[in-house]
Amino acid sequence: MTTSKRSERYLNKKAHPLQIGARMCFENPYDKETNPNGYINLGTAENHIVFDLMEKKLKNREKLPKYSLKYGQAFGHPDLLKATAQLYHDHLFIKDVKPEQLVFAAGCGGGALDILFNAVCDEGDSVLIPVPYYGGFTFDLFRSKVKIHPCPNFLQIVKGEVEFDPIKEGIKAVLITTPDNPQGNALTEETLTEYINWSQKYNLHIIFDEIYACSVYKPTSKFTSGMSIKCEKPELVHQAYGMSKDFAMSGWRIGVIFTRNKNVLKISKELSFYSSVSGDTQWILTDFLSDIEWRDNFIKTNKERLYHNYQLLTKIFDDHKIKHLPCDGAFFLMVDLREFLKDQSKQAELDLYNHILKETNVQILPAMQGFEHVVPGFYRICFAVDEEVLTLAGNRIAKAVESFQNLTEKKD
Ligand SMILES: Cc1ncc(COP(=O)(O)O)c(C=O)c1O
Repeated sequence: MTTSKRSERYLNKKAHPLQIGARMCFENPYDKETNPNGYINLGTAENHIVFDLMEKKLKNREKLPKYSLKYGQAFGHPDLLKATAQLYHDHLFIKDVKPEQLVFAAGCGGGALDILFNAVCDEGDSVLIPVPYYGGFTFDLFRSKVKIHPCPNFLQIVKGEVEFDPIKEGIKAVLITTPDNPQGNALTEETLTEYINWSQKYNLHIIFDEIYACSVYKPTSKFTSGMSIKCEKPELVHQAYGMSKDFAMSGWRIGVIFTRNKNVLKISKELSFYSSVSGDTQWILTDFLSDIEWRDNFIKTNKERLYHNYQLLTKIFDDHKIKHLPCDGAFFLMVDLREFLKDQSKQAELDLYNHILKETNVQILPAMQGFEHVVPGFYRICFAVDEEVLTLAGNRIAKAVESFQNLTEKKD
């Protein structure tokens, strides 16, 4: 049976390591009582630590109004846009945001980012992304047919220490994640300003993925949005956000676009028709966000629990002398296992990953495979899971790393 020419790309598309690992865990998930030998998934960036708060809040679903059953504004009900603008004002610290500058779509990646790249880039244009970056961008940007230009030294380029002409390279836009995935670093106002000024010098669009904005949990760190930076050409600055992470709602598929560019706004509204958020989901989210006391307590508790889990996991690794990188927010700890590799190659990184998986049944992600890291030996571990599971998995990983070292030492 023939299919369209344009769909051939999908038939030939290879699964990404993020998807392969996640599938394996979905098919055989760990459960203390019913499946103790199943896989513990510390590879998927999902937030499980506030499900109890969500469950309680979901009890008033029976109040769903009739309007949620009807056709409505595909890009977001006015009440939802208003409540979201309030969230941006109070927790993303963007003081001038207006409800009419927001557009809802199904998810941050396949929804908001897909729409934004369709709006600002043509097929074949390149998008500069500093590495390491969230591997899922490979599929989020796939439909818009842009090319990803991985950039290992963006900060040096911006500071003028390395020569790079984005126009010659066919770059049309820059994609920046803050706090980032996989390292969990929140960019400072100074760095954001440098990134924006550099992009504007070449008239490039800059898109901020701020899906972890409300998950900056370290008391000494703070979130600053790229949208709050004053600049000469605000029409070239856009943001993608969503409820998958900060609100632990990855299954509900809620993404948001924020732009001050009138044309990008209009195109986004048109395109959101193809991936809109359902009426019941919109209403429930409006209900959550408009209950300011609940909303604020939820965000505060989420941050406290993230910090607690961060401390728990780093204590296990510190006790075992396993190095890890500093971070500010999101759900990840990047461990530095370079000293345990038999050589500094992608294969050696994979060998240690396979050893950990085999010994522990815990799925984590090697950063070269998953995040285009240029140096082998870093692994991302998601810690927004139940405390008991995290303790078990953290100890298993630490022991597996030690046993790998013994194994390689014996071979030598
Ligand atoms: C930086 C980043 N952007 C986008 C996404 C995808 O979000 P969604 O599930 O809402 O499409 C993720 C998910 O891991 C992410 O880490």
